[in-house]
Amino acid sequence: MRLVVVGSQWGDEGKGKVTDFLGQRADVVVRSQGGNNAGHTIMIENEKFALQTIPSGIFNPHIKNVLANGMVINPKETLKELANLEARGIKDYQLFISNRAHVIMPYHIMLDGAYEELKGNHKIGTTKKGIGPCYADKVNRIGIRIGDLVDEESFKEVLSETLIIKNKELKMLGLEELSFLDVYNEYVEYGKKLKKYVCDTSLLLNEEIEKDSNILFEGAQGSMLCLEHGSYPYVTSSSPTAASVPVNAGIAPKYIDHCVGICKAYTTRVGEGPFPTELQNKLGDLIREKGHEYGTVTKRPRRVGYLDLVVVNYAKRISGIDSLALMLFDVLTGIDELKICIGYKLNGKEINTIPATLKEYALCKPIYIELKPWKENINNIRNYDDLPQEAKTYIETIEKYTNIKVDIISVGPERNETIIRRDIFKK
Ligand code: IMP
Repeated sequence: MRLVVVGSQWGDEGKGKVTDFLGQRADVVVRSQGGNNAGHTIMIENEKFALQTIPSGIFNPHIKNVLANGMVINPKETLKELANLEARGIKDYQLFISNRAHVIMPYHIMLDGAYEELKGNHKIGTTKKGIGPCYADKVNRIGIRIGDLVDEESFKEVLSETLIIKNKELKMLGLEELSFLDVYNEYVEYGKKLKKYVCDTSLLLNEEIEKDSNILFEGAQGSMLCLEHGSYPYVTSSSPTAASVPVNAGIAPKYIDHCVGICKAYTTRVGEGPFPTELQNKLGDLIREKGHEYGTVTKRPRRVGYLDLVVVNYAKRISGIDSLALMLFDVLTGIDELKICIGYKLNGKEINTIPATLKEYALCKPIYIELKPWKENINNIRNYDDLPQEAKTYIETIEKYTNIKVDIISVGPERNETIIRRDIFKK
């Protein structure tokens, strides 16, 4: 079976926990887009692991972990992440990196910062990891790929040609130019260390499909950060949708069997851009503290708001979500004023979708329904029927307005603090 996990909001929905949880059934776990702008937090036996580039199957020696062609990879940070895992005893793992994935180079990080500064009030609020400039070079056909990095001759050639262009850009923006030899000498060493992991991952994945392996495609970011369909320009530089998986992993679309949308019980976003259900008040602060809503990568406080089902329905439309996993549900315990947004009012009219322009999106006012709160601790509940009635009503409201079954409910950070209503990843 091939299962895709997508974020149905603005990222940080708790995909790490679900992919780790479902990953126990997987033979292969794949990341297909983004880079170390993502941050997956995984709790294993009270130990906290924060992953940025590496797939969550890394903790299980039987799982093949794939970084596919659609990714942008920072070799230095990837090696650091692996070294950190090894220092904590995670030594026995299988990792495969696509020779077609693009390399995040030092100038990409410098340019990310410089463009943000130039944008002034209109800055995106990027993670400053060089993601956008790296994808821009890929599209402009001046990118460096992992296959080049691990071949000394090719790397020398492609870096010397590329650096001529990039140094002109750096100079134009008032930044220091980079020395070919400095960059070459540093990066060629990273290439040597990564070489053993590099292969044609499309070939590997198609062989696994032939064997009918269980493959989990773990999404990074969320649908509203999609370059195509998100709240442009306040988006990331790739498409974190189920539709992007085939092209970013080199498999045919017909091989995707099921899509799980990960949905936080409320909404958060980092960075700039419209956020109709945002709570800029004490209640927002309370949810932020209860949910530890601070960026895994940047440590920035996340903006917090009520659950927005217009956003979730939009994610359903662009990714074909078959099941929902409701995350951080326990954070809502004891929250007195509970509301769910079921539509927007725009210029006096009710709408049920995301307007394309920022101007219109900023004018959207949420239409809420109010729900009754619950006070009972739900961390130890493992059966849906044992949840307080008010909590069940919250979940049933989501199902009613999205027409998607909530198959997984997370009631705490640990792997086992989960209510499973349907087995969606069958062996
Ligand atoms: P970039 O991906 O670093 O270019 O950042 C673009 C936008 O996407 C910014 O608003 C980031 O905060 C946001 N973003 C990127 N990756 C993630 C993520 O994994 N979770 C949440 N937001 C993200």
